[in-house]
This record gives sequence, structure tokens and C-alpha cells, in this order.
Amino acid sequence: MRIDIITVLPELMTSPFEASIMKRAIEKNLVEVHFHNLRDYTELSYNQVDDYQFGGGAGMVLMIEPIDKCITKLKAERNYDEIIYMTPDGGTLNQRMANRISLKENIIILCGHYKGVDQRVRDTLITREISIGDYVLSGGELGAAVLCDTIIRLIPGVLNNETSALTDSFQDNLLAPPVYTRPSDYKGLKVPEILLSGNFPKIEKWREDEAMKRTEKLRPDLLE
Ligand code: ADE
Repeated sequence: MRIDIITVLPELMTSPFEASIMKRAIEKNLVEVHFHNLRDYTELSYNQVDDYQFGGGAGMVLMIEPIDKCITKLKAERNYDEIIYMTPDGGTLNQRMANRISLKENIIILCGHYKGVDQRVRDTLITREISIGDYVLSGGELGAAVLCDTIIRLIPGVLNNETSALTDSFQDNLLAPPVYTRPSDYKGLKVPEILLSGNFPKIEKWREDEAMKRTEKLRPDLLE
């Protein structure tokens, strides 16, 4: 998979790709992540990429021209399955969406900023708009990093134990069951007996039951 990220603030989002699972995925060549600074695609003085909105109103708007130039250049080099715009107006990111996107070959992620982007970008260049939740971030960068994390970990081979992404919370619309590690007795707080039994079919059944119980209690909406 190849991910091209278009942003005015690459420095805000490179570090999540330099540690842990995302770093390892890049090192194993399971994913390529490229950052494109929008300011490299403007010919205006001071590398201007935003301007006041027509009709008046507070806040600057990212201009269509540098975004169009950047996307056009990328599209000339390869086909893209999705061109995603990070915005609080988008569909809320969930596991199903992440699963789908993780199967794509090439995607572009455009990070919004200030008051957003010129509507003509959204009307003509974007194929999907994604929000990471009903709150407003200062820009799309942190949202894009969240999106990348959730899709990259799903790419086969990225996690050591491939089944571990399949047993994450939200796969099958269930929360994950509780997990325990050593010691089996901490100041009288005991690990459920079944997990120490070595009876793996029974353990599996226990985990399924616990996942269902936890979902019914904490997130009944997932079962509707
Ligand atoms: N940009 C600003 N707020 C955002 C959000 N909630 N999700 C994605 N991108 C955003």
C-alpha cells in the first residue's frame, strides 16, 4: 500500500510514523508513506496557500490551485483508489471503514486547515471525507495519523501475530474480551480460572461470551 499525505504542516505528523508498528510496517516495505508540503505547490510569494473567503467571514481557506497541482502530479504517476479529505464534516471513522481502506493499493489523504478547503476541491477532487469524531481539531494532520495507524495495522504481515488485529475490539462489531498477564494472583486479585486451564476450546468460548457481555454492557449500540 502507498499513502500520500498532503499537508501544510508535515512536521506535525511525521513522528507517529517513526515509532512502533507504523515504523516497522514502513521498514518491512508493507507500506510506503510520502508527505507532500502544500507550500511546494504554490507560486505565490511567501509560499501562500490560503486566502480570505469570498463573501467575508473569519478564517482562511486553503486555495484550490496548489491542491490541484499536487494531486494532478500524483495522479500522473499512478492510479489512486481513494482521495480522502480529513474534515469534521466527514463520515465518522470506524473499524469497518478502516478494514475497507486497508485493502486499497494507493490512497491520498488531504489534511484540511484553518476554515477548510475551497469547496471546489471537495466537489471535484475528493472521493471520500472522513472525520475521526465529533470535535474540531486545528487541522486534519492528527486525524490523518489516526487513520493511517488504524489502516496500517490491518495490512497482512504488519502485526507479528496476524490474528491479533482480527481479535481487536470492533472486529465483528464486538468489543474485545478482557485480557490478563502475570502474576495470576496479585494481592488476592485472581485471573479467571479458565484462562489457566489450558483448555483452548473452552477459553475461546469464554472469550466470545465475555466479548458479548462487555459489548452489551458498554456499547449496546454496536449490537443494534
Ligand atoms: N479536522 C478538524 N477536525 C477534524 C476531525 N474531527 N476529524 C478529521 N479531520 C478534522
